[in-house]
Amino acid sequence: MPLVTSKEMFQKAYQGKYAIGAFNVNNMEIIQGIVDAAKEEKSPVILQVSAGARKYAKPAYLKKLVEAAIIDSDLPIVLHLDHGEDFEICKQCIDDGFTSVMIDASHHPFEENIKITRQVVEYAHSKGVVVEAELGRLAGVEDAVNVSEKDASYTDPHQAAEFVEKTGVDSLAIAIGTSHGAYKFKGDPNLDFARLQQIATLLPNFPLVLHGASTVLPEFVELCNKYGGQIPGAQGVPEEMIRQASKLGVCKVNIDTDLRLAMTAAIRKDLIENPTNFDPRKYLTSGRSAIQNMVKHKIAYVLGSSNTI
Ligand code: G3H
Ligand code: 13P
Ligand code: ZN
Repeated sequence: MPLVTSKEMFQKAYQGKYAIGAFNVNNMEIIQGIVDAAKEEKSPVILQVSAGARKYAKPAYLKKLVEAAIIDSDLPIVLHLDHGEDFEICKQCIDDGFTSVMIDASHHPFEENIKITRQVVEYAHSKGVVVEAELGRLAGVEDAVNVSEKDASYTDPHQAAEFVEKTGVDSLAIAIGTSHGAYKFKGDPNLDFARLQQIATLLPNFPLVLHGASTVLPEFVELCNKYGGQIPGAQGVPEEMIRQASKLGVCKVNIDTDLRLAMTAAIRKDLIENPTNFDPRKYLTSGRSAIQNMVKHKIAYVLGSSNTI
């Protein structure tokens, strides 16, 4: 099976009120762990590559690793650029065979965001590639100090509808209170579901995307800290909130931090428990298995995309 776009999988997800996991990939073990889990769960999957991942692994390696994953799994897989910062990187990825790109011009003023996104959409669509854009800003936990500042960074529902109409984009990342990384909330976790509902109402049958959606499972944080890590106070989006979002038009859920935590916790434990080992295959096997188990759990109990292919 060749790489696919997310068009059909999002339509099915929207109707079925579940979401597709979009997992960040940086090396072979991460790709294998994710894809083996998706295969066990008979779920489609999105493998996404950031500019940092391209720099770390080199584009040609990542592309070939994803091709190998397709041969090995025969799954419908989307290869997606995560947070493309300008037209150039989107074009490079499209020309390299990606089936989906994100243009993240969310830090530009509204009209400029429309203009840049529109340019990417025109090029991508002429090559059969789909485009995700972002409207609103994912504030870090330290950024949103008060309600009006939060309000300014969250996605405006009416602007979202106008943005989609003017750009022709295929999916839209929205800001409703999530943020990237392991520290997402200061107090109790809180997402603006009323806003999400309003966006979904103004954009019927349109796939929304939730970035910063790691749940930061306490078991991995504890394991990391137990074996010499120092990440106290980490807090993610509760699983129930992800389930709720996927019933309100969120078809793509972005996960990177959970992969990092699962892999790092397992490798820390392995190295401490086996001090005489210096075979990377052994501790990387632990890291890969931890990713596989975590992704299986996500697909089956949080995203709900098991048995959908
Ligand atoms: O949203 C960003 C992703 O977590 C990718 O992170 O740029 O460090 O690869 P990165
Ligand atoms: P997390 O940091 O919550 O995993 O979010 C990842 C993400 O949004 C990648 O684009
Ligand atoms: Zn993101």
